[in-house]
Amino acid sequence: MSEQKLYMPSQTFIENAEIKDYQSLYDYSIENREEFWNTEAQKLQWVTPYNAVFDYSEKPFFQWFKGGKTNIVLNAIDRHLHTSCLNKLAIIWEGEPGDVRTLSYHALNREVSKFANILKAMGVRKGDIVTIYMPQIPELPIAMLACAKIGAAHSVVYGGFSVEALAARIDDAKSRVLLTADGGWRRGKITDLKSIANEAMRRSPTIEVCITVKRTGHEVEMENDRDFWYHDLSALPIASAKCETEVMDSEDMLFILYTSGTTGKPKGLVHTHGGYSVYTSTTHRYIFDIKDQDRYWCAADPGWITGHSYLVYGPLINGTTIMMYEGAPNHPYPNRWWQMIEKYGVTILYTSPTAIRGLMRFGDNWVKRHDLSTLRLLGSVGEPINPEAWRWYHSIVGGGRCPIVDTWWQTETGGCMIAPLPTTPLKPGSASKPFFGNVVKVVDDGGNDVEANEEGKLVITHPSPGMARTILGDPERWAQTYWSEFAEKGYYSAGDSARIDEDGYIWIIGRLDDVIKVSGYRLGTAEVESALVSHSAVAEAAAIALPHELKGNAIHCFVLLKQGKTGSRELEDELKNHVAKEIGPIAKPDSIAFVDSLPKTRSGKIMRRVLKARAQGLDVGDISTLEE
Ligand code: WTA
Repeated sequence: MSEQKLYMPSQTFIENAEIKDYQSLYDYSIENREEFWNTEAQKLQWVTPYNAVFDYSEKPFFQWFKGGKTNIVLNAIDRHLHTSCLNKLAIIWEGEPGDVRTLSYHALNREVSKFANILKAMGVRKGDIVTIYMPQIPELPIAMLACAKIGAAHSVVYGGFSVEALAARIDDAKSRVLLTADGGWRRGKITDLKSIANEAMRRSPTIEVCITVKRTGHEVEMENDRDFWYHDLSALPIASAKCETEVMDSEDMLFILYTSGTTGKPKGLVHTHGGYSVYTSTTHRYIFDIKDQDRYWCAADPGWITGHSYLVYGPLINGTTIMMYEGAPNHPYPNRWWQMIEKYGVTILYTSPTAIRGLMRFGDNWVKRHDLSTLRLLGSVGEPINPEAWRWYHSIVGGGRCPIVDTWWQTETGGCMIAPLPTTPLKPGSASKPFFGNVVKVVDDGGNDVEANEEGKLVITHPSPGMARTILGDPERWAQTYWSEFAEKGYYSAGDSARIDEDGYIWIIGRLDDVIKVSGYRLGTAEVESALVSHSAVAEAAAIALPHELKGNAIHCFVLLKQGKTGSRELEDELKNHVAKEIGPIAKPDSIAFVDSLPKTRSGKIMRRVLKARAQGLDVGDISTLEE
């Protein structure tokens, strides 16, 4: 429910903010969309200027900064080498065991160049897709930047994913090269990434070369001719610290990032050099009110879109000092984050509601023991934030003085689409207003605007520069999934339900499709179901999301066993672990119920809606299409 109290930023904050008046710049950006984006794009370096800001003649395949030549690395690193930024810290990294690494922009350039030269020596060429499967170590952003520098696209697979998820993504991208690490540290234990990578490579034989960074030093299996240690390669003369940045077309592919949808097959969303550079840097600069002296910490893993846009690319383009941490927020104690904020003087923290709720659970004293007075701005992303968590974040973490930017966006949009500016009066739980250039509406099934406070479908009326351009290998699915529902109006369907209140504040309610947000991570019910049916005892399965106090949503499954198999506690545990092993621990179901039949439509589709209503003890609604 909307709450009445408005939270205002302090007068000094407003005085020091880059944008003081949201509304007038917003109005300008809508009436002069091209002009607005042209001004922002001009803040970046282009090798060749673009001849059109925007081309939307072949809907829904649009182009931004057409004809322009650049490379995201030119803006994220190269140009900083000619300014005082050269000596500035780009990355402050802390490992879970407490080891620390810092890299200036100068050092980052050397590391990226080395990695880039190694990739070249391994035969990686412009246009190839390199899969990266790493823990949160500096080599992860370094590898991403190295790919971009030589014009190869990266496909980062979250280090918490497991065998099947990794194999499916390698397969779809047809990657020839995999970059990984022996493991990482998480809650005092080693996550054995290399073993998972080895199993995934057995399932997806496209990988010819696998480069492994040594992080934990535990024994791992290396295969002759395929596997190389990164430190061995970087000691060779091929790994020079000088490397030319490849000149790319604005619309050339920068990366693909797989995300979950309605079917079991994850979609590889394609993002490009030009528009994505402009959008991530602009949103990052304005929404986080970035200053030269900031120490900015986006606590997301680079394996998700938040990490791509607001840990790596946006901040580096803006010459920001970023903080990165390898491990769990509560290891060894629940004050780990607060300790690091104090130690490094972090000024901005950007994280998920699940992380906030998780830390809130340990009580205020873990926070209050630390001097967090350097913090000046907080951010939230990935799922709706409940007002209780919002207020705790605001008063306990932020000491009541830090505005909270609750940012709504998606892997598909590349950057924040709805967010308050730091000077916007805030309503806890609302992502506030559209970012410059975006018109956001809530509509009914016919595409008509609904009344204030009425729930409907969230749409965006125009493509924005940071949006994905297509789905790798499946342009039809791109058009169908996002642009077909309101095709005459040209709206982008976000797949979320929302309402807009009488003050124009947008309140996100949740997903309308079979996507589940568990702890802010995006999964598809279909992926969980296909992992379940890959177990020898399972004939059919259905997965649903039910509200969960800490995780936002939890996964509950219904399983129909094969003839002759009987359900038991042991089998339930075995199936849960099977899902965790195939997809990753984040996908592990909270419960599994063994059933004799699943509610299906006459055309054979599982009616998850019915299962969900029944599990929550609610009315199952219209079941006239139910088969039996
Ligand atoms: C949800 C994450 C409420 C939403 C950046 C969206 C949010 C999906 C918010 C995309 C927010 C993201 N408030 N819900 N501030 N931010 N979501 O692709 O349902 O992992 O459609 O991108 O997360 O998830 P994705």
